[in-house]
Amino acid sequence: MQRILTGIQSTNQPHLGNILGAIQPMILLSQSPEMESFAFIADLHALTTVKEGQDRRHKARQVAATWIACGFDVEKNRLYCQSDLPEVTELTWYLNCFTPFPMLANAHSFKDKSNRLSDVNAGLFTYPVLMAADILGYDAHLVPVGKDQLQHLEMTRDIAHSINHRYGNVLVVPEPKVAEETMLIPGTDGQKMSKSYGNFIDIFLPEKELKKVVMGILTDSTPLESPKDAESCVVYQLFRCVGSPEQALQMRNNLQAGGYGYGHAKSELLGALLHHFSQARTIYCELMQDPSELERILAKGAERTRPILQETLQRVRNALGFSIS
Ligand code: ADP
Ligand code: TRP
Repeated sequence: MQRILTGIQSTNQPHLGNILGAIQPMILLSQSPEMESFAFIADLHALTTVKEGQDRRHKARQVAATWIACGFDVEKNRLYCQSDLPEVTELTWYLNCFTPFPMLANAHSFKDKSNRLSDVNAGLFTYPVLMAADILGYDAHLVPVGKDQLQHLEMTRDIAHSINHRYGNVLVVPEPKVAEETMLIPGTDGQKMSKSYGNFIDIFLPEKELKKVVMGILTDSTPLESPKDAESCVVYQLFRCVGSPEQALQMRNNLQAGGYGYGHAKSELLGALLHHFSQARTIYCELMQDPSELERILAKGAERTRPILQETLQRVRNALGFSIS
């Protein structure tokens, strides 16, 4: 059995890029009988930037509802909220004491955040150590992440090696899994879709609002009757991710033939998004209207996951000489 684990911060509603680039590939992997999958909401990490508790919990529910709505099976797998297993912070402390200061000082993401944010707190600095505890605490073998997180994975591996080197094989050393083949989903302005660029598509918006976002996708000024280059058209690039291959080919031909405007393409994209995510949208809506059901699912996920973390913690405590049992 391979154990695969990934976390998403509760800083925002996941957008189409997150869903196609991270959530759906993980769900696909989780369907294999050889995989034991853990998906969690990194709300302790989110505290580095989101300070208001209710807002953070609401966002955590949005992330949880997105996983479930997109098809993550919470009975076969584990879905939980990081803060519901506060033991992870005990493990973080132990790992902190094996983390060289210069390693953290060299983290790209810290440098980037400390340049951008006004609140540069110690949590941002030690962020990678909590992330290492998230992974090492559950003996994960494989960690699907975006390229920006690779350095954090390297740190996790270094910390695990350092402990193993000194105390024997205490921790499982994880491997990152970067989905090279995942196409970079473009945002409404043609750049990489990202919450930081404000160019994202939230597929769970009410239809009217979703339509406004789709109709606002940036296109060039080629007249309706002229042929258009499909490959460089954002509407087409998005459409081929959610429409069938036949539909995508049809749109490509239509664009290249001329007499088919971007407005037509956008209407088709809206239709394809509504169709592709129809079931997900219904489930998401139902879940968000019933926060107590979501809380019940998350509490159960945490309860099923706790024994694994406790077992690892006991191993680490024993190795470090804190409690011999
Ligand atoms: P954002 O850029 O919106 O802040 P994150 O950095 O939080 O997104 O990314 C969370 C996950 O979603 C990562 O695994 C990342 O690779 C994936 N992801 C984010 N944006 C895209 C995109 N535009 N295309 C494909 N995958 C994406
Ligand atoms: N740092 C990750 C991000 O911002 C989220 C995260 C926290 C994570 N803990 C993790 C991802 C453990 C994978 C494994 O995207």
